[in-house]
Amino acid sequence: MAKARSQFVCQSCGTVHTRWAGKCDGCGEWNTLVEEGTTSGGIGGGPSGLRSARKGRPVALTTLSGEIEEAPRIVSGIGELDRATGGGFVRGSALLVGGDPGIGKSTLLTQAAAALAGKGHRVVYVSGEEAVAQIRLRAQRLGADTAPVELAAETNVEDILATIADGRRPDLLILDSIQTLWTDMADSAPGTVTQVRACAQAMIRHAKSTGTAVVLVGHVTKEGQIAGPRVVEHMVDGVLYFEGEGGHHYRILRTVKNRFGPTDEIGVFEMSDRGLREVPNPSELFLGERSAAAPGAAVFAGIEGTRPVLVEIQALVAPAPPGSPRRAVVGWDSARLSMVLAVLEAHCGVRFSQHDVYLNVAGGYRIAEPAADLAVAAALVSSLTGLALPVDCVYFGEISLSGAIRPVAHAQQRLKEAEKLGFSQAVMPASGDDKSVQGARRAFQPATLSDLVARIAGSRARDAAD
Ligand code: TYD
Ligand code: MG
Repeated sequence: MAKARSQFVCQSCGTVHTRWAGKCDGCGEWNTLVEEGTTSGGIGGGPSGLRSARKGRPVALTTLSGEIEEAPRIVSGIGELDRATGGGFVRGSALLVGGDPGIGKSTLLTQAAAALAGKGHRVVYVSGEEAVAQIRLRAQRLGADTAPVELAAETNVEDILATIADGRRPDLLILDSIQTLWTDMADSAPGTVTQVRACAQAMIRHAKSTGTAVVLVGHVTKEGQIAGPRVVEHMVDGVLYFEGEGGHHYRILRTVKNRFGPTDEIGVFEMSDRGLREVPNPSELFLGERSAAAPGAAVFAGIEGTRPVLVEIQALVAPAPPGSPRRAVVGWDSARLSMVLAVLEAHCGVRFSQHDVYLNVAGGYRIAEPAADLAVAAALVSSLTGLALPVDCVYFGEISLSGAIRPVAHAQQRLKEAEKLGFSQAVMPASGDDKSVQGARRAFQPATLSDLVARIAGSRARDAAD
């Protein structure tokens, strides 16, 4: 019989230590080690799961080729959600929906549950966070209270499994949230890495063995004191993160992992007083706050997953008091901004050393693509010179350290979206195939960044000539 031994588990990365230490060797975080009991019965215990040796049972080996069963999906009918999941929830799979507290995870899943239950699927919603009355209030507000969703406020995994064992197998089981669940198989407090892992393991096993699609909700905590969803990311079949900027109403559901579909996909929603509303055309949303031609604004033609998104990039370059000038960025990588500034200084003779530089991506949107370099550079030069860029022009392209403009993927798609929204000009990299340029009626394809700077600076002269 195994003796329970305690171990110290990092609440940030899950590394197991035999002894307490102030700093975790695994991730370098401080004060994240918490004493936890080991799991008995071997659920999620990993190498330290203490069990008496069992004689192995041979499994049937198979080949890589062969019949593939089409992963049958449960389509919610909420287009942006189905897009992010890659075409609906997959039966027998486990999906993690993570996000900051209060971002709208419960709202989204209540809406999905109601939509699916309305179509005749058996949907069970188990909340460990809120009382039944609170969930009913939310459902009323969403106009979803008449949907035949089966609801429970419960936190024990064994009780939940016993509950759903009765009757028809649920098509969808939502557990809100994984941090509140606990299982008899692990002897740590709910929310610790050991418990979160053991509960996730039990629910994933249930999904695989019964064919129910299981959705686990996970709060992301910055402090890492409560085990975040990161420790279950590798166990589940799909991971979606629900994101949003404080003060803005829209939310982005981002696919981070998907064993049954594409990643890098996004679904866009707007939080209203009656729940989440789909935003089928995000470009209109991000360009909605756009002002008429003003210096420092450039529209970037970006790609999110398979979808083109136009966003406005705003720069403010202002004279700085003596000392070190400020660089502040919202919605983009600050190291990338430093690089663009350095290239402008080194290769184009544009000086920012006496100026504060502020960069903002409109609407609180976050850009990860290097293709935004060209739009950022255009916005910076425009703000510095006080010369507004043409209102009907989009920008995309990567800038190399030598000042050359490098081609980026999906040029055609970016141009098509731009044209659809009334942009008739584009500043973009020269690419091998001339086909891609046909989309924009007037395309300027600079070979180097200084060509673009010269064009912006020359616009004053052109205006005077007009
Ligand atoms: P919730 O779904 O409870 O967030 P999470 O489960 O991620 O913690 O959403 C909470 C926020 O959403 C709360 O601040 C109120 C807001 N909200 C609306 O603005 N409109 C609505 O219709 C609902 C239900 C919530
Ligand atoms: Mg919630």
